[in-house]
Amino acid sequence: AITADMLSMIQITAHRGSSGKAPENTMAAMAKALDDLADYVEIDVQETKDGVVVLGHDDSLKRVSGINRPISFYTFEELQKIDVGTWFSADFQGERIPSLEETMEFCKGRININIEIKDLGSGSRLPDKVAELIDKHQMREQCVVTSVRFSYLARIKELDPEIRTGYIISAAYGDYYSSDDIDFISLRSSFVSERLVEAAHEKGKAVHAWTVNSKSEMERMKMLGVDNIITDYPVIAREILYREAA
Ligand code: G3P
Ligand code: MG
Repeated sequence: AITADMLSMIQITAHRGSSGKAPENTMAAMAKALDDLADYVEIDVQETKDGVVVLGHDDSLKRVSGINRPISFYTFEELQKIDVGTWFSADFQGERIPSLEETMEFCKGRININIEIKDLGSGSRLPDKVAELIDKHQMREQCVVTSVRFSYLARIKELDPEIRTGYIISAAYGDYYSSDDIDFISLRSSFVSERLVEAAHEKGKAVHAWTVNSKSEMERMKMLGVDNIITDYPVIAREILYREAA
């Protein structure tokens, strides 16, 4: 029988959903993440012209739709007419941009969500809106909020200290580990080191590593003892994490 100590303690996050198998930040990618038995989906969120929180990574829609305009140029209704699946494969023709709310409804009770609030400047109401949706759907246990903008995380904690937050950093400068506004750090995998993981753990902060797509980098993250691997390929990550445990 498989016992708990035989299983890897490292969790797996499907980056923008299982974006190796389906177009990123779409419901299809969320469904694949469920199939792949990931622990979390990571999604990027922005705001439409009419203030709806929706999924999307880039500043422009060009890469995923061919249209070189930002999400904020459109209302939610207008965005629904834009195909963000075909660029990935014809099998996903007609995939559209989901709202955060429908993504939460889909994930509730099934998979955790890492909501990355994209940096839309210091005056953005996005943190308030994200906290409000987490409260509305009672998903504090299931959601974490991350951002490259520290003040967004501080705002989340101000609104609701129970929401867990992660600071996304590309390199480990400064003493982020001591801040009460942060529960974990989300670090570019090439910057993860043993010393850094130890330093974070000493302060009680977990370490998530992104975006870990090669087998050798997955092995390295496993060896260094990170707590969560963010990858486009959750199935490959699991194979590697569980290899010696089997
Ligand atoms: O969650 C961390 C990771 O998603 C950061 O990179 O650019 O894919 O949002 P990016
Ligand atoms: Mg992201």
